[in-house]
Amino acid sequence: MNLKFISTFLCFVLLHSSKTFGDHFTNQSDLETYVVHLEFHDQLFSNSKDVLLWHQSFLPTNLNHSSRILYSYRHVFNGFAAMLSSDEVREMEKKPGFLSARPQRIFQMHTTHSPSFLGLHQNVGLWNASNSGKCEFNVTNCNKKLIGARNFVQPGMLPIDENGHGTQTSSIAAGNFVDGANFYGNANGTAVGIAPRAHVAMYKVCGVLWCAEWMILDGFDAAIEDGVDVIVIPMGFGHPPFYDDAIAISTYSAMAKGIFVSGSAGNHGPGSGTVMNEAPWILTVGDSTTDRKISAVAVLGNGAEYEGESAFQPTNFSQKLLPLVNGKACESLNTSNVKGKIVLCDTSGDLSRNVKGGRVKNAGGAGMILMNEKYRGSTTFSEYDVVPTTQVSYKDGQEIINYVKSTSTPVGTISFKGTRMGDKHAPTVAYFSARGPFIPSQGILKPDIIGPAVNILAAWPTPIAGQMFDLLYGTSLSCPHLAGVAALLKNAHPNWSPAAIKSAIMTTADIVNLGNDPIQDETLEPADLLTIGSGHVNPSRANDPGLVYDIQPEDYIPYLCGLNYTDDQVSLIVNKKVHCTTSIPQSELNYPSFSIPTESSAQTYTRTVTNVGEASSAYTVEVYGLKGVEVTVQPKILKFTALNQKASYNVTVKSLDLTGHSQGYIIWSSDRHSVRSPIKVFPHISVI
Ligand SMILES: *[C@@H]1O[C@H](CO)[C@@H](O)[C@H](O)[C@H]1NC(C)=O
Ligand SMILES: *[C@@H]1O[C@H](CO)[C@@H](O)[C@H](O)[C@H]1NC(C)=O
Ligand SMILES: *[C@@H]1O[C@H](CO)[C@@H](O)[C@H](O)[C@H]1NC(C)=O
Ligand SMILES: *[C@@H]1O[C@H](CO)[C@@H](O)[C@H](O)[C@H]1NC(C)=O
Ligand SMILES: *[C@@H]1O[C@H](CO)[C@@H](O)[C@H](O)[C@H]1NC(C)=O
Ligand SMILES: *[C@@H]1O[C@H](CO)[C@@H](O)[C@H](O)[C@H]1NC(C)=O
Ligand SMILES: *[C@@H]1O[C@H](CO)[C@@H](O)[C@H](O)[C@H]1NC(C)=O
Ligand SMILES: *[C@@H]1O[C@H](CO)[C@@H](O)[C@H](O)[C@H]1NC(C)=O
Ligand SMILES: *[C@@H]1O[C@H](CO)[C@@H](O)[C@H](O)[C@H]1NC(C)=O
Repeated sequence: MNLKFISTFLCFVLLHSSKTFGDHFTNQSDLETYVVHLEFHDQLFSNSKDVLLWHQSFLPTNLNHSSRILYSYRHVFNGFAAMLSSDEVREMEKKPGFLSARPQRIFQMHTTHSPSFLGLHQNVGLWNASNSGKCEFNVTNCNKKLIGARNFVQPGMLPIDENGHGTQTSSIAAGNFVDGANFYGNANGTAVGIAPRAHVAMYKVCGVLWCAEWMILDGFDAAIEDGVDVIVIPMGFGHPPFYDDAIAISTYSAMAKGIFVSGSAGNHGPGSGTVMNEAPWILTVGDSTTDRKISAVAVLGNGAEYEGESAFQPTNFSQKLLPLVNGKACESLNTSNVKGKIVLCDTSGDLSRNVKGGRVKNAGGAGMILMNEKYRGSTTFSEYDVVPTTQVSYKDGQEIINYVKSTSTPVGTISFKGTRMGDKHAPTVAYFSARGPFIPSQGILKPDIIGPAVNILAAWPTPIAGQMFDLLYGTSLSCPHLAGVAALLKNAHPNWSPAAIKSAIMTTADIVNLGNDPIQDETLEPADLLTIGSGHVNPSRANDPGLVYDIQPEDYIPYLCGLNYTDDQVSLIVNKKVHCTTSIPQSELNYPSFSIPTESSAQTYTRTVTNVGEASSAYTVEVYGLKGVEVTVQPKILKFTALNQKASYNVTVKSLDLTGHSQGYIIWSSDRHSVRSPIKVFPHISVI
């Protein structure tokens, strides 16, 4: 079977700057790239030429069409991308079959040990042994791993990764075994992706720092046509309604064709309501740490030690206690104050860690203790620093400052301990991990899951100082982990739908850390369900979930109608003509988790589970947590006599406190399985 991935890898070229060509009728600088949606056409086009001709009929006849139409879509939706003036768009609006046109948006990219942290091991379980895409490289550059590479950014350009984003994300999802992978000797070991035997197809859809909407849509259109199994989208854009969101629309078409989509929640945490890629047919992935640290310990004159991190591990750093001085933001340092000292810097201001380190070094400082600002909490990074450094948590930084204030001769040093495993707090949610709720659809709990995204050793395309790998952090790293897991599950269960795979991943997730405490966020307090969703992915358990909450593509239609979208808006998303005759409240979608508004009256929601465990089995229900909420589940036992048999249950929820938040779990257990759904009850924010 073919397991392939789409990844946004980067290259340089702005479409606007390569602007076209000679129409005599329009001032070229008035043209903008529009994405045009047309009504679904029942008559199936047999070839792309007919589609193109029909799309061209929406443009004025006196134009050179091939200089204006950038891409004619067939799979993601019915429509095209074109360079148009606003007058031309106004003319187009009068033609029958026109639905909408708007200027395209620009998307941001969300910038090995994690497989074994996730419990994956060679030759056992999910990793036990198990080949076509279009290659625009010279044939020899594609191989059994990279089976496709296509460029959508500029005609004639090779699909080469000039920035690194696509190489990183694909190595995490599907990288093969590489012995002796390390970053400056740190994190040394065998590097491997989550689905090492999967094949990769790459679709280059981005410029250096951003991705144009029409190119992303091209990539999706081609990936769907090429028959990929899993799509990774490590990028995002704001929170538009689904009918106005290129990613929501194109991922719906992908899902409807059985393709699993893993998307990053975004780097905009820790504030509430920041999550992206939140459509219910996408697995929305938040970000967490692993138990590996590249350890650098701040040692103080009073004997206190604070473990922080740095990938620069000098072996000759003096362990003699040196004077400590607080440089605050370390934007400007005075040599006479810092020479020969260890300088405390905080993460505030616009300067990067390496620039601050450079200022310390240039002013003659011996080392730097980089202290997190409050919002960064305990999340620290292993970077290759320019001066001996450790980055410590906000709490540790405050204690170090208190020590410095407490004595006239504060002293300390940094002790470098190399790569250490077994951090009992792991996984901890990273501060940057975006949080729910997704304001336009608060009846779906988001994010869905968290996965490794901090200090991940990933392949790098252009070796810097001989380093083929780099230690990276950011939301773009967690969604390829989950895409890899989905690829493994799809290989093990070829008949599971994208929703079934997603359910398996969610209901079996871990909700405790290695220390057996509830998973914590960056403040080291137990994390909210709007932060971790169902919890931390556990691939082996996901392979055997017992029951799944399945959703067919058409089940999303009553959900979309329930969002009060118009028939045209729903049609645009699902790429066929729809009349909203039935609609359901959002929380009624057969989702593996619950997000329920507090209401004065009791509300009942129905869920249907499908037996994918033992043919003959019985599950009993228990409800945990949910203070201030009365929850009843009917029936309390679900009995199965066959595989793929379905059973339904009702959950009735009555909030006793209409202003509070409450959370807990509904767990269905059999002799062998435990199927857990998180429930979050909270006053939904009204949208004006
Ligand atoms: C085209 O439009 C730009 C800006 O609107 C204007 O500066 C330029 O003179 C126009 N060129 C022609 C040939 O009309
Ligand atoms: C139309 O535009 C295309 C693309 O720029 C160009 O190759 C072609 O020669 C143009 N045709 C005419 C008739 O100008
Ligand atoms: C690995 O897969 C083979 C067949 O594909 C099977 O016979 C074997 O039992 C599996 N081994 C493990 C450890 O799962
Ligand atoms: C691809 O192969 C052709 C023919 O062998 C050669 O002329 C061309 O330079 C190659 N291109 C690249 C990018 O390697
Ligand atoms: C990485 O580990 C391997 C095997 O233990 C060893 O041979 C190699 O020298 C190590 N590389 C570095 C840079 O430490
Ligand atoms: C440590 O070693 C590096 C490179 O070998 C050297 O540049 C640096 O000056 C040394 N530092 C000390 C404190 O001896
Ligand atoms: C640096 O500090 C010394 C001593 O505190 C002071 O005399 C000098 O003016 C400072 N220089 C600058 C550029 O601030
Ligand atoms: C849709 O409209 C109904 C009736 O006005 C309202 O009760 C419901 O809250 C609306 N749903 C959403 C998601 O806005
Ligand atoms: C669930 O509730 C619906 C309506 O609220 C009812 O028709 C159905 O019989 C209930 N099912 C169970 C299993 O209680």
